[in-house]
Amino acid sequence: MRGMLSPSLMCADPLNVQQELTVLDDLGVDYIHLDFMDNHFVPNLTLSPELIKATKKVLRHMKRDIHIMAVEPQQYFDRMDIGEGDIVAVHYEACPDLAAVLADIRQRGATPAIALSPDTEPEVLTEWLGRIGMVLVMTVYPGFAGRPIVPGSMEKLAAVRRLIDESGYHPLLEVDGHVSWELCREMRACGADMFVAGSSSLYQEGLDIGEAVARMSELVK
Ligand code: DX5
Ligand code: ZN
Repeated sequence: MRGMLSPSLMCADPLNVQQELTVLDDLGVDYIHLDFMDNHFVPNLTLSPELIKATKKVLRHMKRDIHIMAVEPQQYFDRMDIGEGDIVAVHYEACPDLAAVLADIRQRGATPAIALSPDTEPEVLTEWLGRIGMVLVMTVYPGFAGRPIVPGSMEKLAAVRRLIDESGYHPLLEVDGHVSWELCREMRACGADMFVAGSSSLYQEGLDIGEAVARMSELVK
């Protein structure tokens, strides 16, 4: 499977969101990464549920890759209009009743995914791999763009890849956090399928988005 990009909308120009979505859509980008934060699970607020819902009005090809950094994430599903075609990642650390949350996502026609914060061991995934369509591995501590990569992240990414390959199931493996020009190839070599492209790559100052998308796509293909 070729590597796929998921540009992080929270890193784009907040005053030109619709234009950003249209440009990425026209470039044929596979996914748009939509971060939601509740200022509780992580000390920050980013895209609102209503803005995440509104993206459906302009997206033509790109699929929504929704990353919910919140406790009780189900409370936001209606407001985000979760449905067919969406991937919805909830944090393992934030969901005491993970089975119910994943079932709710699936009942809405979306693909359930589990996000792991840096301090959570890959082995917790074992019992869930048959019930999800993607694993999101955070290589920074969640909550803000521009954070440094957590030491040991590459080894963790490779460990999750091995866990998936040994499981007989085939969820996608997404890497999120400091996916930089310098590190994205190594992340691909560690087994990532999807790359959240944020402030360390696509959204660096002064880059032409078309050229940056083409360059990143080539690096992770
Ligand atoms: C951070 C978010 C990431 C963020 C990545 O908590 O989950 O998606 O946008 O931004 P960079 O690429 O700057 O680490
Ligand atoms: Zn994210």
